[in-house]
Amino acid sequence: MNTLFLIGFMGAGKTSVSQALGQLLHRKVVEMDQCIAEQEGMSIPEIFAQKGEDYFRACETALLERFSNSEPCVVSCGGGVPMREENVAAMRRGGTVVLLTARPEVILERVRDDHNRPLLEGHKDVPYITALMEQRRPKYEAAADLIVDTSDRTIAEICQMVLQQTASSGSNH
Ligand code: S3P
Repeated sequence: MNTLFLIGFMGAGKTSVSQALGQLLHRKVVEMDQCIAEQEGMSIPEIFAQKGEDYFRACETALLERFSNSEPCVVSCGGGVPMREENVAAMRRGGTVVLLTARPEVILERVRDDHNRPLLEGHKDVPYITALMEQRRPKYEAAADLIVDTSDRTIAEICQMVLQQTASSGSNH
């Protein structure tokens, strides 16, 4: 099995599911936001505020290029990654793309107390989350090899679904 790229909206469960998959598969886990923050020596909100979103997006693309050519691992992608065509191409070249979804109400509960997501600061409400999610949905779905709704499932159930579907789809490019 090649690299698994986990994509999806903020709060969809990419970080937790990636950690669990990494343990199950004995694979290295790459948390893109954390890598970029370490590389830049700043938090994600500081990068957005001081260097701008375009700079952050360029960091994402450069990082993704690296991991699409690396040994098989599990990559927890930032929520905006599938918005760029070149990112989608890099992920599809490098492995299998798993889209995690969740209902907006569930997302809101998960992100409510977090202040590391500049795009949601001041917008922590269901209408905003729904609108941004709908806007992104076509690109998320087009990028995905498989889709798992995390709303009412445990991490273990989600991992099981990902592993089963990856095996049965023969998605091993
Ligand atoms: C973003 C999602 C965040 C982070 C940044 C932008 C987005 O990652 O990359 O705040 O555009 O959806 P998570 O999806 O891991 O929260």
